[in-house]
Amino acid sequence: MVISSSSKHAIVIFVALIVLSNRANCDDSLHANKGNTCLESERRALIAIKSDMYDPGEWLSSWTGYDCCKWRGVACDNVTGFVTRFDLHYPYEYNPRVEIYLWAEIDFYPYDYNPWVVERIGSSKVNPSLFELKHLRYLDLSFNNFSYAHVPHMIASLVHLEYLNLSNAFFDGLIPPVLGNLSHIQHLDLGNCYTYPISLFSNNLSWLSNLNSLQYLDMSCVNLSKATNWLHQINLIPTLQVLLLEGASLPRVSPSLPTFNLTSLTMLDLSGYEWNISASMLRWLSHASNLEHLHLSGCLGLFDAKALSVALGALHNLRKLVLIETQIAGEFSTILKNVSKMLQYLDVQSNFLLSGEISTILSILPHQLEFLALGGNNIYGRIPEMLGNYTSLRHLSMSYTRITGDIPRTIGKLIHLEYLDLSRNDITGEMPLNVGNLTNLEELYLSETNITRSIPESIGNVVSLKYLNLFGNKITGEIPKTLGSLQNMLILDLQGNFLIGQIPTTIDRISNLCYLDVSENHLTGEIPTTIGRISNLRYLNVSENHLTGEIPTTIGRISNLRYLDVSENHLTGEIPTTIGRISKLGYLYVSKNHLTGEIPTTIGRISNLWYLDVSENNLIGEIPKTFGRLCNLWMVHFLHGFNPKGMFQDYTNSNPCHDNNLQCAMAPMGSNRPKDKILITAKGSTYEYIRILSLVTSIDLSHNNLSGEIPNELMMLRDLHFLSLSNNHLTGTIPENIAVLTELFSLDLSMNNLTGTIPSNLSALNFLSHLNLSFNNLSGRIPTGNQFLTFDDPAIYAGNKDLCGWPLPECPSDEAQRGPLHARDDDDGNGSKLEKVLDYDFIAMGFIVGFWAYWGAMIMKKSIRIALFQMADRIYDWIYVQLAVKFGR
Ligand SMILES: *[C@@H]1O[C@H](CO)[C@@H](O)[C@H](O)[C@H]1NC(C)=O
Ligand SMILES: *[C@@H]1O[C@H](CO)[C@@H](O)[C@H](O)[C@H]1NC(C)=O
Ligand SMILES: *[C@@H]1O[C@H](CO)[C@@H](O)[C@H](O)[C@H]1NC(C)=O
Ligand SMILES: *[C@@H]1O[C@H](CO)[C@@H](O)[C@H](O)[C@H]1NC(C)=O
Ligand SMILES: *[C@@H]1O[C@H](CO)[C@@H](O)[C@H](O)[C@H]1NC(C)=O
Ligand SMILES: *[C@@H]1O[C@H](CO)[C@@H](O)[C@H](O)[C@H]1NC(C)=O
Ligand SMILES: *[C@@H]1O[C@H](CO)[C@@H](O)[C@H](O)[C@H]1NC(C)=O
Ligand SMILES: *[C@@H]1O[C@H](CO)[C@@H](O)[C@H](O)[C@H]1NC(C)=O
Ligand SMILES: *[C@@H]1O[C@H](CO)[C@@H](O)[C@H](O)[C@H]1NC(C)=O
Repeated sequence: MVISSSSKHAIVIFVALIVLSNRANCDDSLHANKGNTCLESERRALIAIKSDMYDPGEWLSSWTGYDCCKWRGVACDNVTGFVTRFDLHYPYEYNPRVEIYLWAEIDFYPYDYNPWVVERIGSSKVNPSLFELKHLRYLDLSFNNFSYAHVPHMIASLVHLEYLNLSNAFFDGLIPPVLGNLSHIQHLDLGNCYTYPISLFSNNLSWLSNLNSLQYLDMSCVNLSKATNWLHQINLIPTLQVLLLEGASLPRVSPSLPTFNLTSLTMLDLSGYEWNISASMLRWLSHASNLEHLHLSGCLGLFDAKALSVALGALHNLRKLVLIETQIAGEFSTILKNVSKMLQYLDVQSNFLLSGEISTILSILPHQLEFLALGGNNIYGRIPEMLGNYTSLRHLSMSYTRITGDIPRTIGKLIHLEYLDLSRNDITGEMPLNVGNLTNLEELYLSETNITRSIPESIGNVVSLKYLNLFGNKITGEIPKTLGSLQNMLILDLQGNFLIGQIPTTIDRISNLCYLDVSENHLTGEIPTTIGRISNLRYLNVSENHLTGEIPTTIGRISNLRYLDVSENHLTGEIPTTIGRISKLGYLYVSKNHLTGEIPTTIGRISNLWYLDVSENNLIGEIPKTFGRLCNLWMVHFLHGFNPKGMFQDYTNSNPCHDNNLQCAMAPMGSNRPKDKILITAKGSTYEYIRILSLVTSIDLSHNNLSGEIPNELMMLRDLHFLSLSNNHLTGTIPENIAVLTELFSLDLSMNNLTGTIPSNLSALNFLSHLNLSFNNLSGRIPTGNQFLTFDDPAIYAGNKDLCGWPLPECPSDEAQRGPLHARDDDDGNGSKLEKVLDYDFIAMGFIVGFWAYWGAMIMKKSIRIALFQMADRIYDWIYVQLAVKFGR
C-alpha cells in the first residue's frame, strides 16, 4: 500500500478532527488508513468545489460526512482510497418534446419560455481544487453551466484521465491544445450542440494525434472552421472507434486524401458538413469496414447518388444510416440497393429530391429493420401488405409523403411498434381496427389523412400510448370511453373531425394528460366537470363544437392551464369566478357563446394573461378595474358594448405595471379570430414577440381612442398588408421608415391629428393601392412619382389644409419644400433588402427561440423535427414551404 506524505498529513488532520469532535472511535480512522474512506485532502477539495457551485436541485446534498467516497458522483479506488471518479453531470434528463409541442400549438408563448433553458447545477468557473484530485480517471462535468468560462488548462495535469466529458457545459473559447497531454484518454466528449450560441473552437487538431488511446471523440458543434487539416490529423488516430463531428463547421477537405487509417471506426457523424462530399471521399469512407453507424444528415454537398450507393454497398456492417435533409437526388432504390443486410435503423427523412415507390423501397430493405423513417420524401404508391413482414419495427414514420390507399391490416402484426406516424398522406379508409394489437405503441400520429369511420374501442388496450394525434381527418362516431384507460397519455389531439356525442367523463382518468384538443367537431353535451381533476392539463381546447351548459367551475382547479379555449359553442351562464385561480393562464377565449353577466373581477388575478377574447357573448357591464393589474396583457377582444375608456385610464395614468406591454388594447370589431385582426402594443416587448407578431397581416385599430404617435414597432410587422389607424387621436408624424412595410396594399391614417409631411419614400411601396390620409394636419408637398402617380383622388388628402401639389393645387414655392423631402431617400434600397433577408430568420426565431437558427444536433432529433413538421403544417402552411426553401438552398 502506498500512501503519499500529503495523504498521511491529511489522515493526521482527519484523526485530530475525530478526536476533537468525540464523534467516532479509532476504528474509523484506521479505515481511512486502509483507504476505504476518502482522503481528507480530497474531501476538502470536493467541499471547495461544492462551495463554488449553485445547486438548485440539491443534487449535492449527500455531500456531508467524512467518507466522500460515498458521496453522490464520487468513487474511490478500493486500494489506495484516491478519488478516481468524479461525475458531476447535470442529473436530470430533460425531454423538451412536450414543451415543444405545446409551444407549437399555442402559436407563440408570451413568457420566457425557452424550453432549452433548464436550471442547471453549475459554477462560473472550475474550482482549482479539482486539480487536487490527481488520480482521477473519470471526470464528467457535462451539461452544467460554467458560464462561458474557458476550459481550464489545468485539466491537462490530470494525467490519469481516461474519460473526460465536458460536453454542453457552457464552456467557451479555445479548446486548450495541452489536452494533448492526456495520453491515457479514451473517451473525450467536447460536444457543444446544446449551448447555442456559445461554441468552443479549435484551430488546429494536431494535439489530438498525441492521444494514442483515444477511442471516442465527440466534437459536435465545436467550431473547427479553421482546422484546415482536420481529416489528416484525425486519420492519425487509428484507435478511434467513435467520431462525432456533426455541425462542427468543418472546412473543406483537400482533394488528396490520406490512406484510410481509421480501421476501428464503428460510428461516424459528419452531419452538417457543407462542402462537396466527392466520389473520392465516399471511396475513402468505404474502407471503414467496421462502420456500424453513419450519419450524413444535412450534408448539402452530397450529390452523387451512385457513389453513395457504392460506398454503402461496401460498408458490410452498417446497422444504422441517418441521412436527413440532403440534396441528393434520384431514386431510393438506387441508393439503398446494396445496403448492408445488417441494417436495422434507417432514417432518410426530408430528402426533397429523393423519390420512390413504397413497395419497391420496402422490398430492398432487410426484414429485421427496427427503425424506418421515410417522411418528407417523394414517396408514393400504396402501402403493401408485406409491411407486416417487418415484425421487428419499433418506429415507422411515413408522414408528408404521397402514399395512398388503405392502411393494410397486416400492420397489426407489427407488435413491437412504439412509434407510428402516417400523418399528412393521402391515406384513406378506416382507422385500422387492430390498432389495439399494437400494445407497445407510445405514439400514434394519423393527422390530416382521409381516414374515416370511428376510433376503435380497442384503442383502450394500448395502455402505453402517450401521444395520439388524429387531427384533421374525417373520423366519425363518438370519442370512445375506453380512452380513459390510457393513463400514460400526455397529448390527445382530435381536432377537426366529425366526432359526435359527449366528451367522455372518463377523461379525468388520464391523469397525466397535458394537452387536450377536441375542437372543431360536432360534440354535444356539457364540458364534464371531471375535467378539473386533470391537474397537469396545460392546453384545453373544446372550441367550435355544440357544447351546452356552463363553463364548469372546476376549471379553476387546473392550476397548470396555460391555454383555455371554449369559444364558438352554445355555453350559457357566467364566466366562473374560479377562473382567477388559474394564475398561469396566458390565453383565454370564451367568445361566440351565450355567456351572460359581467366579466369576473377575478380575471385581474391571472397575472400571466396575455390574450383574452370575450367577444360575441351577452356579457354586460364595464371592463373591470382589476384589469390594470394584468401587466402582461397584450391583446384583448371585447364587445362593442364595453366602454374601453376605463381601460385606457388604467394603463396610461395609474399604471401599476411600470413599463409593461400594454399601452392600448381594444378591438372594436370583436368578432374576428386572432389571426385576422390583432391589437398590438409593443412597448417593452422583446424581439421575439415582434417577430412572432410579424405573422399578422392586417391590423384594424380604427375608431378607437388611440393617442400618441404611431408606434415605431409597427414597422417590424413586415408582412402587413392592411393597416388602418383611422378615427383615432394619433399625433406626431407619419414614421419615415413606413416604407419598410413593403407588402402594404392598404394604408388608412385618416381622421387623426398627424402632422408633418408625407414621407416621400411612401412612393416606394409598390403594392400600395389604397391610401387615405384625409383629415389630419399634414403639410407640405405631396410626394410625386412611382406609386403616387396612381393616387389621383384629391379626397385622399382632403382636410389637410397645408398639403399641396398634385392632385391638390400647386404649392406656393417649390424650393421651400424640397429639403425635408429629399433627406429621406437614402434609407431605401439596400437597407430594406437586408431587412428582407434577415426576415428569413424569423422562421427560425419566431417559434422556438434560437432553435432553427443553428445547425445542430437538435435538428436531427426526430421527435422535435416531427413536432416542427406538425406545427408548421398545422398552423401556417407556408412555414413549411419556407423551411423547405431554407433547407433546400
Ligand atoms: C473494488 O472492490 C470490488 C469488490 O469489493 C470489486 O468488485 C471491484 O472490482 C474493485 N474495484 C477496483 C477498482 O479494484
Ligand atoms: C448560465 O449561467 C449564466 C451566468 O452565470 C446565465 O446568464 C445563463 O442564463 C445560464 N445558462 C443556462 C442555460 O442556465
Ligand atoms: C504538458 O506536457 C508538456 C510536455 O510533456 C509539459 O511541459 C507541460 O507542463 C504539460 N502541461 C500541463 C498543463 O500539464
Ligand atoms: C457525456 O455526457 C452526456 C450527458 O451527460 C452523455 O449524453 C454523453 O454520452 C457523455 N459522453 C460520453 C463519451 O460518455
Ligand atoms: C496512420 O496512423 C499511424 C499512427 O498514428 C500513423 O503513424 C500513420 O502515419 C497514419 N497513416 C496515415 C496515412 O495517416
Ligand atoms: C411477406 O408478406 C407477404 C404478404 O403479407 C407474404 O405473402 C410473403 O410471404 C411474406 N414474405 C416473407 C419473405 O415473409
Ligand atoms: C389482433 O388481436 C386479435 C385478438 O385480440 C387477434 O384475433 C387478431 O388476429 C390480431 N390481429 C393481427 C393482425 O395480428
Ligand atoms: C382527401 O380529402 C381532401 C378533401 O376532401 C381531397 O381534396 C383529397 O383529394 C382527398 N384525398 C384522397 C386521396 O382521397
Ligand atoms: C386634434 O387636436 C386638436 C387640438 O390640438 C383638437 O382640438 C382636435 O379635436 C383634435 N382632432 C382629433 C380628430 O382628435
